[in-house]
Amino acid sequence: MRVLASPIDPVDLLVVAGHYPVLPPLGSVPGLEGVGRVEALGEGVDPSWMDSLTLLPMRASAWATWAIIPQSRSLRLPADLDPIQACMLRLNPPSALDLIAELAPGSWLIQSPGAGAVGQCIIQLAKTRGLHTINLIRRESRRERLMGLGAEAVFHQDTKGLRKQVRALIDGAPLSRAIDGSGGPLADRMASCLDPGGEVLCYGAASRQPAQLSVRNSVFNGISLRGYWLYRENAQNPHAENARLLDLAEEMRGGTLKLEVAQVYALSQWQQAFALARNGERCGRVILRP
Ligand SMILES: NC(=O)c1ccc[n+]([C@@H]2O[C@H](COP(=O)([O-])OP(=O)(O)OC[C@H]3O[C@@H](n4cnc5c(N)ncnc54)[C@H](OP(=O)(O)O)[C@@H]3O)[C@@H](O)[C@H]2O)c1
Repeated sequence: MRVLASPIDPVDLLVVAGHYPVLPPLGSVPGLEGVGRVEALGEGVDPSWMDSLTLLPMRASAWATWAIIPQSRSLRLPADLDPIQACMLRLNPPSALDLIAELAPGSWLIQSPGAGAVGQCIIQLAKTRGLHTINLIRRESRRERLMGLGAEAVFHQDTKGLRKQVRALIDGAPLSRAIDGSGGPLADRMASCLDPGGEVLCYGAASRQPAQLSVRNSVFNGISLRGYWLYRENAQNPHAENARLLDLAEEMRGGTLKLEVAQVYALSQWQQAFALARNGERCGRVILRP
């Protein structure tokens, strides 16, 4: 396969730094996800695979020009899907889908960070499924984008009287789910907005701080905190993964799911690409295009 595009995901940076629970052997080429075009076939492979736009399997060393992938681990995508969008299909869209899966249409949820890749997927997938999202942002400049994606409400994460404003917004409707990828005190801020017995579903810690839950929220209000990890989810349901990715690819193709791109770089520009990927002020994903 000729690799067409691969993002620099936060998890890639954790892997490169040796801070992720699943690490490849030292010396491996990084690149968790990516997309390629089939340019040569091994013996016995169905010839119709030639020229197919194909999603690379997870951890296929996608920061490369070429990849040799067994057919059984490849996923053929709609031919007209934009490769830049397609290269971001495997990680964040299915994670976002899992994080909202238990909510019935009409439900509300609160999440932080609303403007991250997972957060933006949650807003778009939630909207298509009839859910209402309340989103916390770190930078005021991100508000307009999130509203444009279909957010019901956007609050700055330091908003005074957050609970009061959120409860006024939902006007008596139930709110029992917070989704946290920020870590630190934001889990507890969101927990304070929930109904008693609600749950914070934690999937990451962009702030590099452990998610906090106060005694008031955990003990007196019965709020619990549960962890979500796509890696575990896929291991538990290996056969569901491809079907769900193809459904999400259709949403991408139809334009109801669009991931934000900061900048596209050639592999030779990897130093600039890394500098931008590590920059806390970037908006969207940095993409490597071999
Ligand atoms: N559990 C899983 O299966 C799973 C799946 C996917 C991702 N993740 C993890 O989830 C986290 C977010 O991923 P992502 O792809 O959405 O990240 P991303 O696209 O890089 O966005 C990061 C977001 O975090 C915000 N942020 C950064 N530092 C922060 C801080 N100190 N306090 C509050 N917000 C902060 C950023 O705010 P600005 O918008 O202002 O820049 C941005 O919105 C990462 O840790 C990632 O590894 C886990």
